[in-house]
Amino acid sequence: MAGLIPSRFIDELLSRVDILDVIEPRVKLRKTGKNYSGLCPFHQEKTPSFSVQPEKQFYYCFGCGAGGNALGFLMNFDNVDFVEAVERLAKSVGVEVPREDGGYQKQTSARYDSLLGILQEVAAFYQLQLRQHSGRQRAVDYLKKRGLSGEVARDFALGYAPAGWDNVLKQIAGDDPKRRQLLLEGGLLIENPENQRNPLYDRFRDRIMYPIRDSKGRVIGFGGRVLGDEKPKYLNSPETPVFHKGEELYGLYEARKKLRSPQRFLIVEGYMDVIALAQNDIYNAVATLGTATSAAHLKTLFKLVPEIVFCFDGDNAGREAAWRALQQALPLMEDGRSARFLFLPEGQDPDSQVRSIGATAFTASLGAALGLADFFFDTLAARCNPTTLEGKAQLAKLAQPFLEKLPKGVYKQLMFDQLSRLTGLRIEQPTTPVVAVAPATPGWQGAAAPADFGQPRAPASRPAVRGGRPRVEWSPCMRLVNLVIRKPELLHEITIPEDLGELRIPDLDLLLKVLEIARACPDSGTEELMSRLYASPYGVQLTQLFGKEFFTPTTGILEEFRGTLELELRKHRETRVLQDTRRRLRESNPAAVTPPGQPDGPWRV
Ligand code: UTP
Ligand code: MN
Repeated sequence: MAGLIPSRFIDELLSRVDILDVIEPRVKLRKTGKNYSGLCPFHQEKTPSFSVQPEKQFYYCFGCGAGGNALGFLMNFDNVDFVEAVERLAKSVGVEVPREDGGYQKQTSARYDSLLGILQEVAAFYQLQLRQHSGRQRAVDYLKKRGLSGEVARDFALGYAPAGWDNVLKQIAGDDPKRRQLLLEGGLLIENPENQRNPLYDRFRDRIMYPIRDSKGRVIGFGGRVLGDEKPKYLNSPETPVFHKGEELYGLYEARKKLRSPQRFLIVEGYMDVIALAQNDIYNAVATLGTATSAAHLKTLFKLVPEIVFCFDGDNAGREAAWRALQQALPLMEDGRSARFLFLPEGQDPDSQVRSIGATAFTASLGAALGLADFFFDTLAARCNPTTLEGKAQLAKLAQPFLEKLPKGVYKQLMFDQLSRLTGLRIEQPTTPVVAVAPATPGWQGAAAPADFGQPRAPASRPAVRGGRPRVEWSPCMRLVNLVIRKPELLHEITIPEDLGELRIPDLDLLLKVLEIARACPDSGTEELMSRLYASPYGVQLTQLFGKEFFTPTTGILEEFRGTLELELRKHRETRVLQDTRRRLRESNPAAVTPPGQPDGPWRV
């Protein structure tokens, strides 16, 4: 798509265009000092808060936060995609969009193909090791211990990465520098020049390997699990040109292969949950790859089925994750779709649950999962005691901005009706966008922010608006995003720890996406980066970074980010250790591990 248009051209184009020429014919503007202002075309208002800043070649609305450059404006105003916006902009200044007979595109797609090819080879290699390697028995025993049959192992193409630093390096790449480079790019090798004995070595060693396949069945990455209690329990491929954690769903390809027309999908947390469910003939489970559920995940699934059931742990963390998932789901809840929430007993995951209660009871529990409406109102009601008048008012105030996100339709109407019933107030669907209100008494963290992705959060202790201008506090990730975009040349100073993607900190997905795009086009400047980002799902949020009058300082951000990261990683790793210990304790009770009558698979993998 965007790749068809050479990136130099976009920079050139933007430098030729005056944003004022683009906006003026579409919005009535008045000169105010060196800027221009008018009524915002993106929300309804009576007093102008929309401003165009020719000096910065940016527009920004202080009312709704919309903002961006000329391309972004066209995309939003004309409601067209990136390529179409480029076309229109080019036409307006009378130039043609060069397509270079797809040279760029061809080159990258050839590169993709070789990357996918080598990943496939590696997957086959791992699979073969599970069948033939002299050290295979431990791996086979481990999988058997977890109740897996050879058939399921085959369906999921499970493999084994033998112990040792150079199995993949030697056997897949040998001395071929091109293939080494591909393996490196595909995340299978790690390069560390400081390590003199092994400057280039296998990422996955002595692990059960779970290939992650895209919807067409092409291997795009791997997860690898230790056989014992070593840390980290799972290693995953890093982000690569073909592997985007925030968008992929583990098990989707396998599920679609097995099921002709599934009616619903279950979203679970772990690889092993997906596999254990399949082992119990429940084939419609998919897992996120250690990241939170994203809108992209849900869009993918809702294209295939009308119903999604989230399976979360019943503890606090699980409920927070569910609330975040609900927020992603709201804008997608068109009539006819349904989202439900299954909260498992504390300490259970779908794997342990299905093994302890059996497939029939598990499937029955899915049928009884909490509907989105119930989960939504229960959650908010728990925070404002709607038996009192004040509580009712509070509930109305809390619920409205969320419900506003629902697409127009009967479901939205029903949700508003329900809110009216619960509060005894007549609540109409407002015609103008509602500004989200932060609750006075935050419950669990996730619920406190009716936050849109990447939206700056108002600090809780200070009034959100002072002197008529919103005061915002960016998350560390957001500040880093800001830094990367403003100074892409600093990219090489940022080292990303392997398990960064597993953290649950605000705006992490956005940061990862920005890093990925920035790395994919290493020499791009700010303008080009922004233009490319507009084309991603995060475009709208990103424009806000640039429309703001204030610029966050760029010094000290890296240090601050490293500090935050260290703290979060430590917390994250400690929680993992705790969870593991709990699980081990549970699993030391053999009754919970091997359900009676569990068939022992033939192990002809
Ligand atoms: P879990 O620890 O719940 O995974 O983490 P699981 O599949 O149930 O693990 P076992 O094998 O039964 O013990 C859920 C998911 O979080 C990611 C993985 O995607 C995992 O499937 N994760 C977890 C990691 O990426 N790294 C880790 O160290 C742990
Ligand atoms: Mn598990």
